[in-house]
Amino acid sequence: MPNAKMFKALNEQITFEYYSSYMYLSMSAFFADLGLPGCSHWMRLQADEELLHAHKFFDFLLNRGEKVILQGIETPPNTWKDALDAFQATLKHEQLVTSRINALVELAFTSKDYASHTFLQWFISEQVEEESTVTNIISQLKLIKGDGHGLLLIDRDLGLRQAGTTTDTPA
Ligand SMILES: [Fe+2]
Ligand SMILES: [Fe+2]
Repeated sequence: MPNAKMFKALNEQITFEYYSSYMYLSMSAFFADLGLPGCSHWMRLQADEELLHAHKFFDFLLNRGEKVILQGIETPPNTWKDALDAFQATLKHEQLVTSRINALVELAFTSKDYASHTFLQWFISEQVEEESTVTNIISQLKLIKGDGHGLLLIDRDLGLRQAGTTTDTPA
């Protein structure tokens, strides 16, 4: 099969997106426990969004007439030092996702799989937005220097996130 390597990599990305969802769901629980319902809500929506990403890969493979093979999902961490630490872990994770998407684009290009190449463009833009949103949240968390009042204000803002958006304010 000419594109076997490409389809294997796309299959692996389904599992990776599921892991992302699992990790953000774990962060959602962590924030709920910490008494930060806004951050918990933001992470819950983030987890939902990662499932949508997984299902985009799932549908794409089926539309190409390829076999979907689901794999096991790794256990995510369940605790972080504080809110800043959790959002820094989020940025690090999204940077890893970006490098994986870039590798997929590269593979699509070198294997002349133009359909996959076009499909992946959406993810390229999505990663720019995700990294930017999380970087802004980290900047705000750094500004307050651990001040409880500031943290509650950020939490209130993040609680305004609506489904289908990566920003912290209503669309
Ligand atoms: Fe994703
Ligand atoms: Fe993501």
